[in-house]
Amino acid sequence: MTASGRATAVAHPNIALVKYWGNLDSELRIPANGSISMTLSGLQTKTSVRFDPQPGEDQVLIDRRPASPEARRRVVRVLDRVRLLADRPHRAYVESANSFPSDAGIASSASAFAALATAAAAAAGLDLSPRALSRLARLGSGSACRSVYGGFVEWVAGVDDESSYAVQIAPPEHWDVRDVVAVVSRDRKRVGSSEGHRRAGTSPRQSARVEDAPRRLEACRRALLARDFDALAEIVEEDSRWMHDVMKTSVPPLDYSSPHTLQLLRQVPLWRAEGLSVAYTQDAGPNLHLLCLASVVEQVSERLRKTQGVLDVLLAGPGAPPQILEDDLSG
Ligand code: DP6
Repeated sequence: MTASGRATAVAHPNIALVKYWGNLDSELRIPANGSISMTLSGLQTKTSVRFDPQPGEDQVLIDRRPASPEARRRVVRVLDRVRLLADRPHRAYVESANSFPSDAGIASSASAFAALATAAAAAAGLDLSPRALSRLARLGSGSACRSVYGGFVEWVAGVDDESSYAVQIAPPEHWDVRDVVAVVSRDRKRVGSSEGHRRAGTSPRQSARVEDAPRRLEACRRALLARDFDALAEIVEEDSRWMHDVMKTSVPPLDYSSPHTLQLLRQVPLWRAEGLSVAYTQDAGPNLHLLCLASVVEQVSERLRKTQGVLDVLLAGPGAPPQILEDDLSG
């Protein structure tokens, strides 16, 4: 362990360009297909972990409140793996806070579990490789395994715990793509991603989606490496539609779109046809992520602000990997 048995880390969320939807193994979070994302700057989760040799239960606070039983179970799962690797049975105190409101429509589980894995490993004195850290974060939330890296990241699906982890495709400075988030709803989603992943297999569209995933991954990788925005736009929008097709045809069906989402889904390709370098992608919620080049970020934000039903506009760019806050290590 560190001298103090404690550490604090910050990590960023990410936006999937090729989506993770459905698991082969939902306990270990072995995904049905590989995925690609961009880690997002600006927004972050800060998590402190302290290991204490006194007997007792783990304590988990999220945004100053005790975690729900489900969130706690996921946190303990990550802590248990850390305890196993460090060969120390100590109880843990975990405190986590988001810099962005959890109702802003940005998935916080990716940054939360990337920060938890980073802080817990450091507090236990484990010197894990990025790959091992990625596997550790994956146990808490699938998309978190990608937030262990900055920039552009691919989660190699794999077939088991050892072979399912993320790798970096390109660092943040590779390409200044921006994510302009159109917040059209602040309601908490009724069906969370974990339940959605469980339902994916009930859709007759999921097998076709998974079968075609290698093609979409390849197209996305190429577009990113070549900094080809038009190619990226086409594949990112296509992939988002695939996932929402699966959601809508699941049993019971899932439809995350509001009328304002649907309006933007129609509008954005028209803006692109006018020559604006912008593309949409939608996660498991009604808010839409508009990817664009840095040169048009003002134009895109301005158009969104003028769009009826858009409550707020959030801005992010390619973000950094998790950081350990050194100050907290000395205490
Ligand atoms: C639509 O990683 O939130 O954002 O593993 O159950 O925590 P859990 O699911 P989560 O799923 C993310 C789904 C998505 C697509 C993506 O980020 O790839």
